[in-house]
Amino acid sequence: MILVTGVTGALGGLVLGGLSAVDGLEVVAGTRSGDGTTARRIDFDDPATLAEGFKGVDVLVFISAGYAEDDVVLARHGAVTDAATAAGVRHVIYTSLAGSGDLMSIALPHRWTEARLAAAPFDVTILRNGLYSEIPAGFAMVGAESAAATGVFAAPLGDGRMSVVAKEDLADVAVRVAAETQRDLEADGRSRHAHKTYELEGVTAISGHDLAEVLTRALGRTVEYQTVSLYDTREALAGIGMESYQVTHAISMFSNANAGLLEAHDTDLTTLLPTEPRPVHDPIVKAVEAAAMATGRAPATKGR
Ligand SMILES: NC(=O)c1ccc[n+]([C@@H]2O[C@H](COP(=O)([O-])OP(=O)(O)OC[C@H]3O[C@@H](n4cnc5c(N)ncnc54)[C@H](OP(=O)(O)O)[C@@H]3O)[C@@H](O)[C@H]2O)c1
Repeated sequence: MILVTGVTGALGGLVLGGLSAVDGLEVVAGTRSGDGTTARRIDFDDPATLAEGFKGVDVLVFISAGYAEDDVVLARHGAVTDAATAAGVRHVIYTSLAGSGDLMSIALPHRWTEARLAAAPFDVTILRNGLYSEIPAGFAMVGAESAAATGVFAAPLGDGRMSVVAKEDLADVAVRVAAETQRDLEADGRSRHAHKTYELEGVTAISGHDLAEVLTRALGRTVEYQTVSLYDTREALAGIGMESYQVTHAISMFSNANAGLLEAHDTDLTTLLPTEPRPVHDPIVKAVEAAAMATGRAPATKGR
């Protein structure tokens, strides 16, 4: 039996949907809101739910739950590791962070979790997920209003480029790895993915200049990119009420972008997907066009 955690989330939902479509697999949903009928209650902050929820599970698809201070995330992920060990889970697949993010502050709980899982008695596969394409799309969407008014798209990316990936591709890889692992275990073997770490970096890297170009087309006026200092960005993020740990992680990501560290040069994505990775440019364009329309300043027909 395969259990997927965090199924109300975007990634967990896609993974559950993909696995449920595979013939002959027993797949169970795990979520903090589970009531034991359609989904099991799995709350990493409540270890009792894990002891009960992991019963009978062969393969655990462990979706990281990273929105909290590091001490909370470490406690959550440590509890999952301990409960999976106690329940006799045979194989854990963990959604981690890609190698290009090694110097980002969010890498710490991911690398700690990888090490904690590696020391456990079950087999492990680490899916080191690249940054989602929604991240640069979000920057451009937030900047659309001001770009429409001023012709400037401001973002704290320096001249760096950020490799991004479609979440659907990450889900497809997780589905493949989980399904093949369950089959291998049923055949009384060990998963072909045991103790593998896959770097699922995006194959497309996006810069601030690229986003200004997208805005230019969406708004029908020339938009130029200008970088913003990290100092001003930190003040602005704190000013809009963002939680302080989120400010820390956001600034760390922008520092890495400025340093040019978020552009990946190698990926396992292409070998694990059955087809080419999904293009990330088109969904970004669509999201930005919608934001541009909302400004009321987008031309009726855009020259694309
Ligand atoms: N690679 C990237 O660019 C990137 C970006 C953002 C986040 N991430 C990481 O990737 C994970 C999945 O991404 P996503 O897009 O699916 O995020 P999402 O839509 O925000 O979903 C995250 C899910 O985590 C689960 N969760 C939160 N706290 C939990 C807890 N205490 N115990 C158990 N589950 C908990 C929740 O699922 P339930 O409510 O169903 O329990 C939640 O829906 C995130 O949680 C984060 O760690 C990666």
